[in-house]
Amino acid sequence: MSELYENLIEYANSDYYPFHMPGHKRKNINDISPYTYDITEIDGFDNLHEPQGIIRLALEEAKAFYESDKTYFLVNGSTCGLLSAICGVTSKKDKVIVARNCHKSVYNAIYLNELRPVYIYPENIEEFGINGGILPETVNKAIIENTDAKAVIITSPTYEGIVSDIDKLAEIVHRNNMILIVDEAHGAHFGMHMNLPKNALSNGADMVIQSVHKTLPALTQTALLHIKGDRVNKDRVENFLKIYQTSSPSYVLMSSITECINKIKKDGMFLFEPYVKRLLVVHKHANELTHIKLIGRDIVGKDGVYDFDLSKLVFSVKGTGYSGKWLYEKLLNDYHLQLEMASGDYVIAMTSVMDEEEGLLRLFKALAEIDRDIRIENYGIEDKNDLNYSYIVPKAIAIQSVYDAINSDKEYIPFNLSEGKVSAEYIYLYPPGVPMLAPGELITGDILALVSRYKKSGLNVYGLKDREFKNIEVVKEGFRAVNLVRGFYSQK
Ligand SMILES: Cc1ncc(COP(=O)(O)O)c(C=O)c1O
Repeated sequence: MSELYENLIEYANSDYYPFHMPGHKRKNINDISPYTYDITEIDGFDNLHEPQGIIRLALEEAKAFYESDKTYFLVNGSTCGLLSAICGVTSKKDKVIVARNCHKSVYNAIYLNELRPVYIYPENIEEFGINGGILPETVNKAIIENTDAKAVIITSPTYEGIVSDIDKLAEIVHRNNMILIVDEAHGAHFGMHMNLPKNALSNGADMVIQSVHKTLPALTQTALLHIKGDRVNKDRVENFLKIYQTSSPSYVLMSSITECINKIKKDGMFLFEPYVKRLLVVHKHANELTHIKLIGRDIVGKDGVYDFDLSKLVFSVKGTGYSGKWLYEKLLNDYHLQLEMASGDYVIAMTSVMDEEEGLLRLFKALAEIDRDIRIENYGIEDKNDLNYSYIVPKAIAIQSVYDAINSDKEYIPFNLSEGKVSAEYIYLYPPGVPMLAPGELITGDILALVSRYKKSGLNVYGLKDREFKNIEVVKEGFRAVNLVRGFYSQK
């Protein structure tokens, strides 16, 4: 047995409770072993890339369920949906308006089509040090200044469950003949209960990408790409889906999507009603905590937050002198509660309809104890000031396009001496996979300080080939100068 397999079995048999994706929470929604129905495109089983039979039928059902005009199954996650959606509506070197807090797959699409992004920034929720929503005014301004942009790409909800006003954004984007692409990877469950946000498709977005596996009972990698209206050239998008999706799509994954949809169609009310009730109880009791704060609906209506996803339990320790990583590890080691992520000063517990009362109760009891310990013992991290920072996406100073930076002459230099250089690499926390630095961007003192603080507090900082973060690959000075002289790229 490989160590990987052994560890999976050990985790499956342990008492660790999964507050992480996938949304099936390791519960079988049918009793067949995946090996039993893992086949390829044999007779009678249709073809995902040219669906004519049973897959076509399944796609029609998914389309009706999500009320789209066209729905595609994705077996390589939302990642391949975002790549196909963005490449499908742009040509090489086109301009796109992009929320800077998008997932790295959006940046990879920017790379692939050599796009020129104009970044827009979400508002900040100061109280919790997290990104708020994207304001319609922000999009409007970017469009007025960039009338030649082809599309606007935003993430809603964010990893933390922040929803922007898609209705208004769509109106502005369409008035200017552009296309609105919404990364709704964390919102496949939207619209399934009146206390959950409406989904972006019903609010007017042209293309919406959802990871079914994140928030619904479906297997990892399952996702959907929806198109609504006639602004998007479907043939082009389909062409890219054929490029970015495997030529051996898994029937295990495809049927996991269909069975997830069928289960919700059949039992939706019985699943979502008690689930939402349980979430509301958690939110109510969270008010009893003294130090740990659960982000709730009171953030709605300001900082660009149009709506908030209750299913994301975001617990903040901001201002307590403790870090998100500390809370995350305490929950993991002392209580066997595996959360989805830790950031500077908050943690995220992901929930789904498959969570039972017992799991939420365990989480709440643990938090109550930890909260009491914070008050009584007041121990923690020595350098408390160092924790007083947020995970708000930093302002980028783009000197070159992502494509040019990656394909330029490059050199390795010590990371701590790289201020003022142009990066040829990404740096991001994973999760959530939102770059704080992208290729082509200036490495500032703020970025260096942020990385050093994140690393010091034990967060997962990724991106550089040198995992130790001793060296970073930057664009060679001469190469950068030539490109600048040619006026290769300019960033608003
Ligand atoms: C906002 C966002 N978009 C897209 C993705 C990619 O989704 P997938 O893992 O389904 O490819 C993620 C993954 O975490 C994400 O958080």
